[in-house]
Amino acid sequence: MADAKPSASGAAEGSLAEEFAVPSQVEELRGRMAEFAERHGVAGRRVVLITSGGTKVPLESRTVRFLDNFSSGRRGASSAEYFLDAGYAVIFLHRHRSLYPYTRLYSGINLLDALTAEPECARVVVDQSALPNIAAVLTRYQAVKAAGLLLPVEFSTLSDYLHLLKAAAQALSGIGSKAMFYLAAAVSDFYIPASEMPEHKIQSSNGPLQISMKMVPKMLSPLVRDWAPQAFIISFKLETDCSILLERARRALATYRHQAVVANVLDTRRGYVVVVTRHEQHELQLSDEDARHNVEIEERIVSNLAAAHHDFMLQG
Ligand code: PMT
Repeated sequence: MADAKPSASGAAEGSLAEEFAVPSQVEELRGRMAEFAERHGVAGRRVVLITSGGTKVPLESRTVRFLDNFSSGRRGASSAEYFLDAGYAVIFLHRHRSLYPYTRLYSGINLLDALTAEPECARVVVDQSALPNIAAVLTRYQAVKAAGLLLPVEFSTLSDYLHLLKAAAQALSGIGSKAMFYLAAAVSDFYIPASEMPEHKIQSSNGPLQISMKMVPKMLSPLVRDWAPQAFIISFKLETDCSILLERARRALATYRHQAVVANVLDTRRGYVVVVTRHEQHELQLSDEDARHNVEIEERIVSNLAAAHHDFMLQG
């Protein structure tokens, strides 16, 4: 008798195990994430795993060139701050060197231009106009650090991201519905399997480059079904064509059967998103007045989802 066809989630797991290199520190990081989740879960705190930044897909084993997914990491980094304000503990799974909570507020500033050395009294003075609100931001950051509420974990490649997402889901499984997954990272849909990748730098003397890439299985399938079936799971949907956005978001919800999709269009993502759930959709939009007061759309997204997560926990 022929073998039964594996489910989408089984196929995705199989492909992850066989075709994506396991990052060297995955066991240690799984342990740290599990300890973090348990400590905060016992204290009655909700824990959110935020993914942030774009994945990198190498074109050569000894990588000189790679394919990158667009994401500055601002959505993830600012959302982390609002989740912390809302009482969550945060695991921040982010692309190496993408924007980071709190420091993101100074990312466009050359730090050395904001400091003046006073060697005679071994002091460095901060120029407050160059680093606006630095004391308030530093106070918030230090409080979060002292309470151990933020656990940063880094990825670079698509393989790192996929294995660390699975490790995070296993680490959070002990706290059930107290866990939220907020998948804001921009994850590649295409990759070159290790067995088909050239070892050395591709030579331009060989002429124009033609690449064939395989489809990356959607890890939302095993995440929702097998790795974190009790958790509150939010994916993001990014499009450049607004006419297909909502239909794609609804399709993702129908396929993966998770709790919500945050739908956004590249050009308007800073001021407008739609939170789509199975029975409702909420448009979140910043007004000109909000923009004048530096309100960020992530504050609204987090407030909406934290309330929905609360209801979800009560039902569970
Ligand atoms: O970082 P910023 O500059 O602030 O920009 C924020 C953002 C635009 C990147 C963010 O708001 C956003 O939309 N992120 C998701 C972009 C994306 O990858 O969308 P997608 O349609 O390719 O994927 C949809 C969902 O499937 C994602 O939540 C992703 O985690 C998941 N996915 C994707 C690929 C894959 N192989 N497996 C997955 O599970």
